[in-house]
Amino acid sequence: MELRPFTAADARSLDEVCIRTGQHGGDASQLYEEPTLLCDLYLRPYLALEPSLAFVAVRHGRPLGYIVGTADTLAFAARCENEWWPALRARHPRPADGDNSPDAQLLRRLHQGVGMETLPFLSDHPAHLHIDLLPEAQGHGMGRRLMERLFAALRERGAAGVHLGVSALNERALAFYRRMGFDTLQPQPWGEWMGRRL
Ligand SMILES: CC(C)(COP(=O)(O)OP(=O)(O)OC[C@H]1O[C@@H](n2cnc3c(N)ncnc32)[C@H](O)[C@@H]1OP(=O)(O)O)[C@@H](O)C(=O)NCCC(=O)NCCS
Repeated sequence: MELRPFTAADARSLDEVCIRTGQHGGDASQLYEEPTLLCDLYLRPYLALEPSLAFVAVRHGRPLGYIVGTADTLAFAARCENEWWPALRARHPRPADGDNSPDAQLLRRLHQGVGMETLPFLSDHPAHLHIDLLPEAQGHGMGRRLMERLFAALRERGAAGVHLGVSALNERALAFYRRMGFDTLQPQPWGEWMGRRL
């Protein structure tokens, strides 16, 4: 498996990775009527707004995973408000009150924003990231390689620390992040915010 910078030709394959790992690390393709909403929230804005911080794991030319992120969560959130959410909000109406379907929950996040700008630990951990590998690419050291590549790029941009959110049901990812030097920053009903210095 190789690691290389993202190119625009990877986008469709990375959508598939995002969907196949979108339910606590497992396949989310049957969970949502419109699973590409996951990509609109958690993958595509990074590829569009921070393409130089996106790296891809590739085997025989096929992308099997990615890491994406930003060095400055506040600036990224502001850019999303101006450049990313408006078109999506125009395309997808707000869900009806009382609709608690999985799609409605994603649509609410899309309309309210994902709240990243209000986190209390941003001064120490201004960067954040998302990492996903298809099952066939997991457990071969690629997660570590992708993390170390992104950490180096974030340090070059002057970020002092990085945070991420992880579901309590994703035990594999929790163990991986601890091994990669992350500690709990803030427990949440859904899991926890974790962070590490860079
Ligand atoms: C979580 C994920 C990114 C980890 O990547 P990976 O390639 O499987 O992990 P690696 O093989 O690089 O492991 C790196 C280190 O973490 C350790 N590790 C990984 N999984 C572990 C586990 N379940 N328990 C204990 N240690 C673990 C490895 O032993 C390794 O340690 P070492 O490098 O010091 O020897 C990957 O499994 C994945 O994409 N899962 C599905 C999507 C997902 O859950 N994404 C995160 C959403 S928040």
